[in-house]
Amino acid sequence: MIRLHIPATSANLGPGFDCLGLALDLWNTFDLRLAGEPGEISVTSEGEGSKGLPQGRQNLVARTLIDETWPGIMPSDAGIQIHCHNRIPVASGMGSSSTAVLAGLVFASALAARALHLGEPEKVLAEVQSPANLDRVLSRAIKLEGHGDNVGPALKGGLVLVVNREYDPVVRNIDFADLKAVVCVPDYNFLTSEARAMLPGEVTRTDAIHNIGHSMLVVEALRTGDKKLLAQAISDRIHEPTRMALIPGAHEAKRGALAEGAHAVALSGAGPGLIAFADDDHLGIGMAMVHGFAQSGIKARYWTLDAVRQGLRIESVAS
Ligand code: HSE
Repeated sequence: MIRLHIPATSANLGPGFDCLGLALDLWNTFDLRLAGEPGEISVTSEGEGSKGLPQGRQNLVARTLIDETWPGIMPSDAGIQIHCHNRIPVASGMGSSSTAVLAGLVFASALAARALHLGEPEKVLAEVQSPANLDRVLSRAIKLEGHGDNVGPALKGGLVLVVNREYDPVVRNIDFADLKAVVCVPDYNFLTSEARAMLPGEVTRTDAIHNIGHSMLVVEALRTGDKKLLAQAISDRIHEPTRMALIPGAHEAKRGALAEGAHAVALSGAGPGLIAFADDDHLGIGMAMVHGFAQSGIKARYWTLDAVRQGLRIESVAS
């Protein structure tokens, strides 16, 4: 019925904690098909983490779809089959779970549109792709995630600022100059929920001022492509000091990337991955980061990725 392509994202970008995120050119694909017995919901996965992911109703895509769909909207003529092709490493700090939540929400909206336009797939697609529907999906995803710095850029693409007000989050794309990064992900279990729970509940005024100023500098550096400014700007005092200390080898990996010529390095989202911005020698930077983690006995993989201006893409597939 429909296929979604949703990009990886790197949230925070240093001091922009919970507010800034960037879409990267690595994509998960999700298919929704109506087949099988009415009431049945099946999920199959291939690629990253597929062995460890639940395959039925407990899968995050299916769970979101079920939670967000009124029972009367569920198809009465067929079951639901979801197939996930995961290229984004799971629990890496590259927003893989945000892609699953967005997929569940877009699929829920597709079922609602189908209930209105039975036998008219073009109308269903047009409704699902409409800006009004995508805005609704985004607001709901921000609510479900609690912060929008992954779901924002995953849906809209590019560099995104999300300010999560109580009732109406403000989400804006910000212009940015072409950008390449190496994202290195250690094989280390560091769940976002735990990585958040460990953060101090309060910050000092000095640290708050530090982060406000530096996050504005990050935006300016990315907007103008000023790598020297980016090097000065990527400095956080709210989450990275606590988290970096908990990820074995993270400091060594960061030092290695900078020594190989990366302009700036930050924790990717809540980690455990690190993102290193660099114009060239991505191989050397990737290897240096892998070596940094290896010094603590941790295996790591890396990806060299462009920042992408395109976000979630929806297409129709034969059911
Ligand atoms: N801003 C969130 C955090 C992103 O740092 O916890 C999670 O990917």
